Amino acid sequence: MKIFAYGIRDDEKPSLEDWKAEHSEIEVDYTQELLTPDNAKLAAGSDGVVVYQQLDYTRETLQALADEGIHNLSLRNVGIDNIDLDAARELNFNISNVPVYSPNAIAEHSMIQLSRLLRRAKELDAKVAKHDLRWAPTIGREMRMQTVGVIGTGHIGRVAINILKGFGAKVIAYDKYPNPELQAEGLYVDSLDELYAQADAISLYVPGVPENDKMINAEAIAKMKDGVVIVNVSRGNLMDIDAIIDGLNSGKVSAFAMDVYAEEVGLFNVDWSNKEFPDPKIADLIDRENVLVTPHTAFYTTKAVKEMVHQSFDAAVKFAKGETPAVVVKY
Ligand code: COI
Repeated sequence: MKIFAYGIRDDEKPSLEDWKAEHSEIEVDYTQELLTPDNAKLAAGSDGVVVYQQLDYTRETLQALADEGIHNLSLRNVGIDNIDLDAARELNFNISNVPVYSPNAIAEHSMIQLSRLLRRAKELDAKVAKHDLRWAPTIGREMRMQTVGVIGTGHIGRVAINILKGFGAKVIAYDKYPNPELQAEGLYVDSLDELYAQADAISLYVPGVPENDKMINAEAIAKMKDGVVIVNVSRGNLMDIDAIIDGLNSGKVSAFAMDVYAEEVGLFNVDWSNKEFPDPKIADLIDRENVLVTPHTAFYTTKAVKEMVHQSFDAAVKFAKGETPAVVVKY
């Protein structure tokens, strides 16, 4: 049995070597290149390929794999929004993902960003870097004084709620499919509108499915409290970025942290330090002292990377044996 992996980064190699050592009967080959129609041939003779979400997997790409007789695709990440699922269905692809690799990685990042926004850490760091060691006017706000609205209470949202409870914040939550334990605690409000009306800060943990597209738009922001703080570590398409920028300009949104961006493919995880930066909106946001931009790094921890590699290769082996992995994507 042979598994071929695309886009293997240096930081993934130790986890891959561990996995290989535990599965010496399986032939594993890989490249650092991301999967494209042009390099699908590299996987010839494999029983499955392992990839992660950095490029769109178009009909052309999937066809190129199918031309090599490959119909098993195992993602090392959770999101499947980059795959042409109609083409995958027509070409009979089995797809697996890694839905739970480390909820803490993402939840912690979101809460670190929220606390940094509340304590005006970016402004303070910039002052200190200039050797301006005065306190004022950089006064912060305490977590325990905030009502924090958590939208989405799956694995990641629930870890965020626990972190917030540790800080002593008042937590309110909204989910279309409430979690019974949280329901018993009385954490849920009945509607997003109610959450918008009550929350001093809002953090999102919902998938980027079409029905959530641009849910944080001008209309939603108008319903929020004046000076609301918004954190999005989930998916870029949840935000109407122009509405967020308008909210920041008017002061309606007092601070904002984003780890994801609808147009992040080709922008994030690229070194622009010596090149012309191609996205004026993101350049503007990066320059603002009340905005924190991270390039989709909330997931990026040693624990998460190990789980992504191990669980995706386990799933690829299951497919190759004609079995169904626990993490099969039903599409
Ligand atoms: C996911 O797992 O879907 C992520 O957001 C992280 C990934 C792009 C590597």
